[in-house]
Amino acid sequence: MTDQADTVEAIRWQGNGLQLLDQRVLPQEVAYLRYGDVDAVAAAIRDMVVRGAPAIGITAAYGIVLAARARFAQSPGAWKQAIESDLQTLAAARPTAVNLFWAIAHMRGLIAEIDGDPEAALLAAARRIHNQDIAANRRMGELGAALIEDPCAILTHCNAGALATGGYGTALGVVRAGFAAGKITHVYADETRPWLQGARLTAWEMVQEGIPVTLQAEGAAAHLMKQGRVAWVIVGSDRIAANGDVVNKIGTYGLAVLARHHGVRFMVVAPASTVDMAIACGDDVAIEQRPPAEVLELAGRRIAAAGAEAWNPAFDVTPAALVDAIVTERGVVRNPDSEKMRAMMG
Ligand code: MRU
Repeated sequence: MTDQADTVEAIRWQGNGLQLLDQRVLPQEVAYLRYGDVDAVAAAIRDMVVRGAPAIGITAAYGIVLAARARFAQSPGAWKQAIESDLQTLAAARPTAVNLFWAIAHMRGLIAEIDGDPEAALLAAARRIHNQDIAANRRMGELGAALIEDPCAILTHCNAGALATGGYGTALGVVRAGFAAGKITHVYADETRPWLQGARLTAWEMVQEGIPVTLQAEGAAAHLMKQGRVAWVIVGSDRIAANGDVVNKIGTYGLAVLARHHGVRFMVVAPASTVDMAIACGDDVAIEQRPPAEVLELAGRRIAAAGAEAWNPAFDVTPAALVDAIVTERGVVRNPDSEKMRAMMG
């Protein structure tokens, strides 16, 4: 358990193992699955038991604790070499969210310095990553809410909430802070096909928090904006490139185009661990392609015409020019470009 979480916990370390809230079955079931070995943790990331960029990174950090325990028990003298294949298994779980690679690189750096039994030091590091993520979210919540001038409704996409992070959320952290400050009065949530993170996860989080939420099919966004019902679109990100391009859940780019056309502001909320200064622009980011069955089926049942194929990119790229503000725990970048991103990231 972290000592800072007061929202739903997607990830918790209890006893001597990892527990993940199974996000595939929410909100019908609230069930934690237990993990004792790193291969199962990698599979949980791939199979969407846990999802959302920061949550994937935190989960990988705890997975490395499990890997180190097993490798050290097998071979106290050669565990550092042996654990490398576990790090690679974790890294192969999903390709787009940079937080996964950030967490693995951070833990790899610590592994190089450890003498003796690594478990306690690596567990302390994983907990630190977890707690720092929650603290970053709270800071971003304040910074993002401060950008909103008048009380308004907002539109969000996918789930960038407590479930997608160590707790509190990025985009939904701004919603939590903005609602508490009387600046955000209502949340419109895209249902977010094909995994329905909006319908299943964002709506669940908002209802639990007592924040009014209205679901809509993605196709309703243009009509919503044309009617002047929302002043901001607020989303998270899986990776932000050095020039401020934003990679996020498929459909985000379309919302940014619509927002600009309708005079709606566009805010991206993500921790500094989501910014990848090694990637010049968003088009250089590997976009995960997921199985066609996720589009052809609904809840495990085929709905598409027999013989139809499906294209299922999980993310898209929103050009920096369509972004009004990027909010990280290090500060706010308005109208992002390479120079401003560099200044913020140091
Ligand atoms: O496929 P998912 O559910 O992992 O995609 C999640 C998103 O796109 C989120 O918006 C992003 O990871 C930010 S979560 C704080």
